[in-house]
Amino acid sequence: MTRLYKDMVTLSGRGLTVLDHPLIRHKMALLRDTATSSRDFKQLVGEIAALMTYEVTRDLPTEPVEVVTPLETTRGERIARKIALVPILRAGLGMVEGIVQLIPNARVGHIGLYRDHSTLQPVSYYFKVPMPVADHWFFVLDPMLATGGSASEAMSELKRAGARHLALLCIVAAPEGVAAFTSAHPDVPIFAAALDRELNEHGYILPGLGDAGDRLFGTK
Ligand code: PRP
Ligand code: URA
Repeated sequence: MTRLYKDMVTLSGRGLTVLDHPLIRHKMALLRDTATSSRDFKQLVGEIAALMTYEVTRDLPTEPVEVVTPLETTRGERIARKIALVPILRAGLGMVEGIVQLIPNARVGHIGLYRDHSTLQPVSYYFKVPMPVADHWFFVLDPMLATGGSASEAMSELKRAGARHLALLCIVAAPEGVAAFTSAHPDVPIFAAALDRELNEHGYILPGLGDAGDRLFGTK
């Protein structure tokens, strides 16, 4: 066990929440499996994102509403905030559908970033999010938090645009990425389905699941 991994386990429950549920652990094992087809990989990413939504939305404020049942009038609750899902292109797209099934009126923005293969630095190429930015609660989606460069850049772009409520949802987080992200954005919570051991020399997460974008879209 690496030292950084141990530090991150300690961070769990504060900046980092690792979602621990038998269904998530079961689906994670299938997702990591190199024999899993692109079709199944896509489905699993969506299902894991949907399972994560339950915990990630726990603090959303609600407001009272009056509901007329077939028998009488009663009080109910409804979500009191506008929700925006922002996948980081490309791989974040795989998480959108599973969450939209649970939050059908969520709006969807897009942030285009890719990681330069030699420098591992994020390169920004697209930004479009729902307006007015300050009115939305933003859930930024990216299956992989590796060095943390892409997620940190996405949050900085959202903050520069005026976003105030932000959270990051990733499927696999590396300790190095959690450390870099929380140091750049200590105010933004991270939710992960798994915390892995470390990065290899090419910036890939170990044990990880490989290149999430390529596996989702069948590009390799
Ligand atoms: C992957 C992944 C993240 C990023 C994580 O995207 O989906 O966006 O790398 O790495 P980092 O934490 O070190 O920044 P990639 O750049 O491969 O682009 P793609 O989704 O278009 O394949
Ligand atoms: N991006 C991926 O898709 N996988 C990794 O392991 C690291 C970055």
